[in-house]
Amino acid sequence: MNKTIFVTRKIPEIGLELLRNKGYEIDMNPKDSILSQKQLISFLKKKPYDAVLCLLTDKIDAVVFDSAPSVRIYSNYATGYNNIDVNEARKRNIVVTNTPSEMSALAVAEHTIALMLAVATRIVEADSFVRKGKYTGWSPNNFIGTNVSGKTLGLIGAGHIGEKVASYSKSFGLKIIYTDTIRNTRMEIEQGALYYNSVYDLLSKADIVSLHVPLLDSTRHLINESSLKSMRPTSILINTSRGPIIDEIALEKALREKTISGAGLDVFEFEPDLVPGLTKLPNIVLTPHIASASIEAREQMAEMVAQNIISFFETGKAINPAYE
Ligand code: GLV
Repeated sequence: MNKTIFVTRKIPEIGLELLRNKGYEIDMNPKDSILSQKQLISFLKKKPYDAVLCLLTDKIDAVVFDSAPSVRIYSNYATGYNNIDVNEARKRNIVVTNTPSEMSALAVAEHTIALMLAVATRIVEADSFVRKGKYTGWSPNNFIGTNVSGKTLGLIGAGHIGEKVASYSKSFGLKIIYTDTIRNTRMEIEQGALYYNSVYDLLSKADIVSLHVPLLDSTRHLINESSLKSMRPTSILINTSRGPIIDEIALEKALREKTISGAGLDVFEFEPDLVPGLTKLPNIVLTPHIASASIEAREQMAEMVAQNIISFFETGKAINPAYE
């Protein structure tokens, strides 16, 4: 029998085409907007769908599973899948997959470097100064930033993305230190990265700290009031992973009181909302969760999200399962 798939929001055509070519029937949220869980459930109740192609903005938990008992696979269009209750899925034998694409790892690593340099060179503040017509001539004191070369980058998380950030950073002359639950010996050999087993030690030694861990109970608020205190007053914090890894209220206070020097955030604890005061700070660069938004990454993710569904239906095994 033909498979029917519900797609929670339009993704690049290349992925949808792969599914259509298999003869699958696709129903899609007609609006290019985030579905509330209530809206998602009402779509899912319309038909006995076999699969759901969902996004990181969809909260998929027991309530959704209950409303769509025929769905065997939730194929998430993202590397992170903290939006899905994987434990509950496992109990019900529902497959969950993600799209850890090579191109999105590159895109996120490039965005991380862009944020790092933007904060260090104060490029966003300076751009806005010029646009406002405030530039009246060269000054030796305008927008003094800091070189990244010769500084120490502390990576929290040394998976695919962290390792790419390390390799780019090395060519900027940064020394790399890192911490993770698993040692990355290749990164130690190729990038000369030094392993720390304590986050606090790493925070006290790094000039720039960049977060590359998934959102888990153990990583939620890893950066909090106490850990921020172990950072240097000159240090910069970058987050392109998941917002709740940082206690954003504590970060706003640290930046306002200048106990750390700057931050670059692509993700937010309560996104799309930001904690009050964050946008008022000059020493922060903010982007709207776009680190993996390169055309190459988005298209590769679309292929992977479709291939996971196809592989599951054709072989009984998905390519990128969230659990085995
Ligand atoms: C984006 O945040 C992703 O997880 O792919």
